[in-house]
Amino acid sequence: MTQDYDFLNFDSLDFDGDDESPADPQEYEPEHRLNGGAALAVVDSDKAVSDYLAGLFAGAVDTASSLSELESRLGLSSQVVILGPSCTEPADLAVVEQWGRTRPNVATILVTSELSTHLLHKALRAGVKDVLSAPIDQSMLIETVERVAESLPGAEQMVRGGETHEAAPLADGEQGRVISIFSTKGGSGKSVTATNLGVVLARRSQKPVVLLDGHMQFGDVAVMLKLQPQHTAMDAIDQLDNMDPSMMERFLTVHEPSGLYVLPAPMEPTFADQISGPQVARLIEAIRGFAGHVLVDLPAIFNEVVLSVIEDSDEIVLVAGLDIPNIKNVKIGLSTLEMLNVPKERLHLVLNRADSKVKLNVSEVERTLGIVAAAHVPSDVVVPISVNKGSPVVISAPKSGVARAFEELAVRFLDGAVAESNPSSGRRKFFG
Ligand SMILES: Nc1ncnc2c1ncn2[C@@H]1O[C@H](COP(=O)(O)OP(=O)(O)OP(=O)(O)O)[C@@H](O)[C@H]1O
Ligand SMILES: [Mg+2]
Repeated sequence: MTQDYDFLNFDSLDFDGDDESPADPQEYEPEHRLNGGAALAVVDSDKAVSDYLAGLFAGAVDTASSLSELESRLGLSSQVVILGPSCTEPADLAVVEQWGRTRPNVATILVTSELSTHLLHKALRAGVKDVLSAPIDQSMLIETVERVAESLPGAEQMVRGGETHEAAPLADGEQGRVISIFSTKGGSGKSVTATNLGVVLARRSQKPVVLLDGHMQFGDVAVMLKLQPQHTAMDAIDQLDNMDPSMMERFLTVHEPSGLYVLPAPMEPTFADQISGPQVARLIEAIRGFAGHVLVDLPAIFNEVVLSVIEDSDEIVLVAGLDIPNIKNVKIGLSTLEMLNVPKERLHLVLNRADSKVKLNVSEVERTLGIVAAAHVPSDVVVPISVNKGSPVVISAPKSGVARAFEELAVRFLDGAVAESNPSSGRRKFFG
């Protein structure tokens, strides 16, 4: 199905009589049905464009030259509508807005050749479920359409990683728990921890779990999860003034194997300078109105953004490699966090690459730091292999000691578990 040509580079594509477009499939093909039984339609004033988009799906897809033409055929069954690039006029978006009030069985996706912040905002405000811009490929379009179809009424359960979970959005006013993943030394395993923890929590939690890549300059969460995100933290921050929990979901990319929602760092490292601590604080506030857990993968520095995230975190996972420079820096980091009045019961130390081969005694390290580790993650080649594959260890090597350590770590963050497993219960001492 997937074709690698530059789909949606509208200037370079010839829609007239192109051999790659199937010839009028509606004459003989059965109707295309999406997951959950929803039907699919494509609207564009240019018939060549709507035929082309429809031809990317197996089976017959309804096409229309305008929203009003399609509306006359809309029934009560679930329907996903792809809006082509001609459907960005105010009158079109007004129709979409009206459908949002009167037709809960219809969901729209806008496909555009050029995406501006202004258009993105207008489309999402009107109720468009997702906006795709060039360059995108066929598989991405199909994936988006299927995801939107699953959100339609009638699809009462969300399918995640082959298992079914009851959809359980947060109640009004309920707020998710913020877990930041931090270290005092680069390369100690924060992103490996954040992605594995995120996947385990998403699989086990009934509520949405979001992983925000807070390494705004060189974030690599999207790569580690092999995602091709349409939106980044920068887009979400741009729309903060208009954000509500239902809008937030549209900025997130789903990691299909687990159901984890991801908000990646900006693609351009220079954008990091434009993002302030208060903006990230507002972003997290918006995400926690939607998700049961918000994980934030941080860089190994104390800057304004990091301090703001740490301050807002309910739990802080401190990752340390098991070597002398790491341990020295953790000691300094713990003193800094203590000076910042971070309650010690919020800290969870993860000792990474913690096994006998590294010649450092874990108990001695814990004694030196005055903190007992929440997890010992062994050094294992499965980790770099999984990073290179873009598939976290808990998925690609579920029986490994690394996967088991992350599974055990996640348990303390599942609903109701922290109070019990938290060292603040008096069994364990954090600061020496
Ligand atoms: N337990 C482990 N065993 C083997 N290799 C590991 C382990 N943990 C991490 N690594 C390797 O270390 C590399 C760095 O890990 P990671 O990217 O998670 O660090 P980080 O703290 O997020 O780095 P940065 O500070 O640059 O964001 C990974 O590419 C991975 O291959
Ligand atoms: Mg990282």
